[in-house]
Order: sequence, then structure tokens, then C-alpha cells
Amino acid sequence: MMGTLCLCLDLALLLQMKFLRAKLGRPPKWLLMWVSVTSMRHSSIKMKRRSARPSERRWRMLWSTFLRPEFVQPALEKSLTKLGLDYVDLFIIHWPVAMKSGDEILPKDASGKIIFDTVDLRDTWEALEKCKDAGLTKSIGVSNFNHKQLEMILNKPGLKYKPVCNQVECHPYLNQSKLLEFCKSKDIVLVAYSALGSHRDPNWVEKDSPYLLEDPILNAVAKKHKRSPGQIALRYQVQRGVVVLAKSFNEKRIKENFQIFEFELTPEDMKAIDGLNRNFRYAKLLSAVDHPYYPFSEEY
Ligand SMILES: NC(=O)c1ccc[n+]([C@@H]2O[C@H](COP(=O)([O-])OP(=O)(O)OC[C@H]3O[C@@H](n4cnc5c(N)ncnc54)[C@H](OP(=O)(O)O)[C@@H]3O)[C@@H](O)[C@H]2O)c1
Ligand SMILES: *[C@@H]1O[C@H](CO)[C@@H](O)[C@H](O)[C@H]1NC(C)=O
Repeated sequence: MMGTLCLCLDLALLLQMKFLRAKLGRPPKWLLMWVSVTSMRHSSIKMKRRSARPSERRWRMLWSTFLRPEFVQPALEKSLTKLGLDYVDLFIIHWPVAMKSGDEILPKDASGKIIFDTVDLRDTWEALEKCKDAGLTKSIGVSNFNHKQLEMILNKPGLKYKPVCNQVECHPYLNQSKLLEFCKSKDIVLVAYSALGSHRDPNWVEKDSPYLLEDPILNAVAKKHKRSPGQIALRYQVQRGVVVLAKSFNEKRIKENFQIFEFELTPEDMKAIDGLNRNFRYAKLLSAVDHPYYPFSEEY
């Protein structure tokens, strides 16, 4: 099941790549790379299902306890050993807020509070550039960066490689229009996570958060096209030039999530969905709100 699911996910990404190529007239180079990373990642999870706890899977992205530059390459090398690979295609910084380095995935003090660290992200970025130069990854990118943090990397003296992507929460309730515009102007691909309104895991998402897929407008558009609200939410992103992630453990919904290339939303539909924005973020990660690099205090 896991194998099928992941293959499906990858296929969906491939389809999106075809679509984006047709739409934008240029192939998003890194996307193929992303597709192969996910497939490798998932085949490794399948092989090592017993040890593939979510915390370990994060090492395929650079987890926050490894942001100090001297830990970056060893972290990637450890991942590669686990994957049985010589290189990955895309390596991204998961989140700009560093946590205390060490063996703990979520280092906590005696009172249960996460112990943070302050690391200059430009130093982390240089370490990612070195991983690329060492042939350990084909492309490098970031996740959960605001535009100032992206700018800080882009303006770094001696910058060798730009981030190819910024993976952020993005859906009709948080349309990220300003960040998207910024990313497009810098040729950075915006990748949307929680595009269906998130997994609603109570560890990360407040219980009283609105249910995106129950939104009446989204449902009206869905009804009109004889599609599901989930398909409309995914299609919306593809039509605005966003690469969209969709996660499901259900075979029917996985299939459904592919079928967003057979129909098109009209400009009126797009406008109606644009009207849903309320700058609502599901994953606020408030435990880090006082950290100087907490990304979500900025408007975008
Ligand atoms: N970079 C980051 O910090 C970060 C943070 C969060 C997530 N992500 C990435 O983004 C991916 C997805 O994000 P996410 O897990 O937050 O949430 P999501 O993709 O918005 O939503 C997943 C939820 O939607 C359900 N679902 C899937 N397809 C559906 C459909 N067609 N209709 C109705 N419900 C549907 C799934 O349930 P069923 O399984 O029951 O279908 C699951 O509970 C993750 O796998 C992760 O790789 C990255
Ligand atoms: C995004 O949200 C803003 C603010 O609510 C809204 O004006 C805009 O139309 C929405 N969509 C896009 C594509 O900007």
C-alpha cells in the first residue's frame, strides 16, 4: 500500500510538471528532481518500515537541529547512508528556526520547553551549497522562509546558488499571494503544503481551525464542475503556477487527487476562490514565536 501511495504521489507530481511545462512554456527543472527524491524517500521507508518514524524521515529535509554549518553535510551523508544512495536530487532547509543540536529531534528543557539555537541562515546556506558542490545533492532549496529570509539568502555576498524552491503552507484560506509574487519575480518555485487544509493533527493544528474542504464556495465550485472540493483546492494552485503537494492514505482519494488535469477552473471560479483568503494558517508553530527567525510574524 505504501508503495502504491507513493508512486501515486510521484505520478501526480510528474503530471503537474507536464502541466506546468505546457502552461509556463518552460520546464521547472527542479521538479523532476523532487519527484525522484520523493520516490527514493518512500522506497527507503518501505524497505525500512520499522525504523521509518516520522522523525527520521525529516532528515531527508535538513531538520532544525542540524542548521549549524558543521552539521549540514554530516546530516545529509547520514541520510544518504540510510537511503543507500550517493546523492539526492533536492535538499531543503525544513524550517528557519534552529533547535539545539544533538541527538534529540525535539530537544526540551526540564520544563518541557523546546531549546532553540540561533544560527545565521546564510552560514547554513553556504553549507548546503557545499553539499551541492560535493555532488551530494543536485539542487538546494528552503521551506517556511518568509520573503525577508529569502532576500537575506539572495543578497548574501558571494552567493553561489539560489534556492530553487520555497515550500510553504498555501491554500485558499492562506493564498500567499504576496510571497508567490515575490518568489515568481526571483524565479523561485513556490511549493504548497497543507493545500487541502492540512492533516489537522492535534499536535500541530488547533482543533477549532476551520475545515477548508467544507467551505461553501469551494463546494459550490466543486458541484458546478462535478468534482470534489479537494480537487478544486488542488486545481486552484496549479492554475496559479504553484506546485501543490497532496497527502492521502486513501486509495480513492489518491486517485481523485490525480484527476485535476482534466478540467479547468474559469476566471470567475478563480476569482471566487481568491475571495476566500483570510490569512489563516493551520500550522502556526507558536512555540517558536519569540525566536528571531520565527518566519510568520512578517506579513509575507
Ligand atoms: N515543509 C513543511 O514544514 C511541511 C509541513 C506540513 C506538511 N508538509 C508536506 O505537505 C504534505 C501534505 O500536507 P498535510 O499533510 O499538512 O496536509 P494536506 O495534504 O492538506 O491534507 C492531508 C489530509 O487531507 C486528506 N485528503 C487527501 N486528499 C483528499 C481529498 N481529495 N478529499 C478530501 N480529503 C483529502 C487526507 O486524509 P486521507 O489520508 O484520509 O485521505 C489527509 O488527512 C505532507 O506530506 C508533507 O510532505 C510540509
Ligand atoms: C489572495 O488574497 C488577497 C487578500 O485577501 C486577495 O485580494 C487576492 O485576490 C487573493 N488572490 C490572489 C491571487 O491574489
